[in-house]
Order: sequence, then C-alpha cells, then structure tokens
Amino acid sequence: MHLPEELQIELDQILEGASSTLLKKARESLSATYHEGGSSRSIFQDPAQKLAYLATRMPATYGAVYKVLSQIATPCSHFLDLGAGPGTASWAASEWFPGLTQITCVERSPEAIELGKQLAQGRALLKQAAWLRHSLSEPFPIPPSDVAVLSYVLGELPDPEELVKRLWQGPIGCLILIEPGTPKGFQLIRTLREQLIGAGAHIAAPCPHAFACPIQGADWCHFSARIERTRLHRLLKGGTLGHEDEKFSYIVASRKPVPPFAGRVVRPPQKGSGHVRLPLCTNQGQLQEKVVTRSHKELYRQARDAEWGDHWM
Ligand SMILES: C[S@@+](CC[C@H](N)C(=O)[O-])C[C@H]1O[C@@H](n2cnc3c(N)ncnc32)[C@H](O)[C@@H]1O
Repeated sequence: MHLPEELQIELDQILEGASSTLLKKARESLSATYHEGGSSRSIFQDPAQKLAYLATRMPATYGAVYKVLSQIATPCSHFLDLGAGPGTASWAASEWFPGLTQITCVERSPEAIELGKQLAQGRALLKQAAWLRHSLSEPFPIPPSDVAVLSYVLGELPDPEELVKRLWQGPIGCLILIEPGTPKGFQLIRTLREQLIGAGAHIAAPCPHAFACPIQGADWCHFSARIERTRLHRLLKGGTLGHEDEKFSYIVASRKPVPPFAGRVVRPPQKGSGHVRLPLCTNQGQLQEKVVTRSHKELYRQARDAEWGDHWM
C-alpha cells in the first residue's frame, strides 16, 4: 500500500530540506518517547520529531486505518477524525469512501492542526476539512458523523473509557478504535469492546460475535498492514526491505445491526500443498483452526485467497 500521491508530494516537500542526521536522531528520540509511554504532545512541538513522525509513523498509521476501513461495508458521507494528528485517518477515509463529502478533525495540538492543513493542500476534500481544537478529555459538542475514528489516540488518554462512553452517547453511526498491535494495545481494545457491547453496540469487525473474547493468556489479537517504504523511511529506520508491516488491534462498533459472517482469519494462514490451515475466530466465539483441502474445490480457492485479517464466509 502507498500513501495517496498528493499526500506524498506534500510530505516530500516538507521533508526535502531536512538534514538526515537530524531526522535520524529525532526518529530515535520519537521511538524512545513511545517506548516510555509518552504522548504525542511533545512530538508535534519538536520540529525534528514532527518530521520524523511524518516520515516514519504517518505511513504506518495510514496503512492501519486503510486496512480497517477495507473490512467494513458502511457508507460514509461525514467522517470524524478524533485525535487527528496531521489528519492521517482522514486521508485514508478520503481514499476509501467514494461518497465522502465532509471531514471534521478534532485535535488539541495547534502544531498538529497546522501540519494537517499544510498537508491537505493537494486534495480539495481534505483542504475543506473542518479542524476543531478541543481536548478529547473534556466534554465538547460531538459533530454528527457516519464514521468516527480514534487512531492511535486512546492509549495517550488518562481515561479512554470515559471518552468512549461520551462518544457512544453522541451522533456517531460507526465508531472505530485502533491501537498499536501490542499486548497493551489489545488489552485496551478488549476492555472497550466489552464496554461498547454492554452499551448496545453491534461489533462489525474484527469479531464475528459478541461473546466474550476467546483470546487467553499472553496471546493478543492483532492484524498487519503492509506499507511500501520510501528511501527516507529506509534511511531513518534502517533495514533493507522495501516494505514495513504495521501491527495493530482494532474494533468497529456499529449502531445498526451488521451482516453476520462465519469467522475472521486471526493469524497468517498456512498454505501447504493441497491444503490451507486457517486460524479463525468463529461466530460461536471460539478459536478454531479450519483445514480446507483441495477436494473442496470452491472453498479451497477461497481459502487460498484468504489473508490474515480477512473475514471468512
Ligand atoms: C500518535 S498520534 C496519532 C495521530 C493520528 N490519529 C494518526 O493515526 O496518525 C496521537 C494524537 O492524539 C492527539 N491527542 C492526544 N491526547 C489528546 C487529547 N486529550 N485531546 C485531543 N487530542 C489528543 C495528539 O495530539 C496526537 O495528535
């Protein structure tokens, strides 16, 4: 997956003049900030860390949001991007939803808002987006939306449960929560999933059921988005691969009932000769490995096409 061309052009322009030595240092301190559980507030205030975020994290979070949006069938004309940062999720929404006409971004950092506006120059829909400066931790009037996204934000908040409660009482059709695909990120998603089900939400993805999550012990439910790397990205993060795999955990809560499906592929399928092993979470609320052999022609063809994160049947 690539970033939209207009976004990549703006990013290249912003990053062009920056010294790679400075950016490398900034990238290291950006990682340290995240590993220490720090927030993005300081990142957008620091000119070098801000650039390092644009070069390395924005493509990854874009990839995760795009992958999540591709798992839902909800139409969307008004999109709400909460804790928008430089508007990453809005770019993914503008690529994914054909009927999108309005974007509202909520963000507390004036530096992030300024950056988001600067990046939006090449695409009218993003350029016309409304930017609201609010803290998500304080009550604010929630703009009506078909789809609202919190992408890599909840882990930075002191009380994510309170925010999700407030949002679900608001005029939002479908609420998407995305966190890093780590045990910590997943634990938060699992807690908020239970809260949303308790509040009457229908889970559209990834779970094919509303039973208790069957993932036990040290395991965690997460998925992966593959993003092509730019030359600068390789320079800053090292390694030789032409792509990066961003791991994320997520939940999509819908106000309306969602079409049922049999299962979700929760790990990479193992494709052998004449058979495919699909690790599924099923609509009975259980983890199950389904083995599909070549003798089931049509099913086998579908199993060979199935990827980690896809829904099954
Ligand atoms: C890791 S960044 C993610 C940005 C963007 N959503 C993305 O996926 O790239 C977290 C964002 O949440 C914002 N944020 C954190 N706490 C916030 C709060 N209390 N109110 C509003 N925004 C907040 C930060 O300023 C930052 O822009």
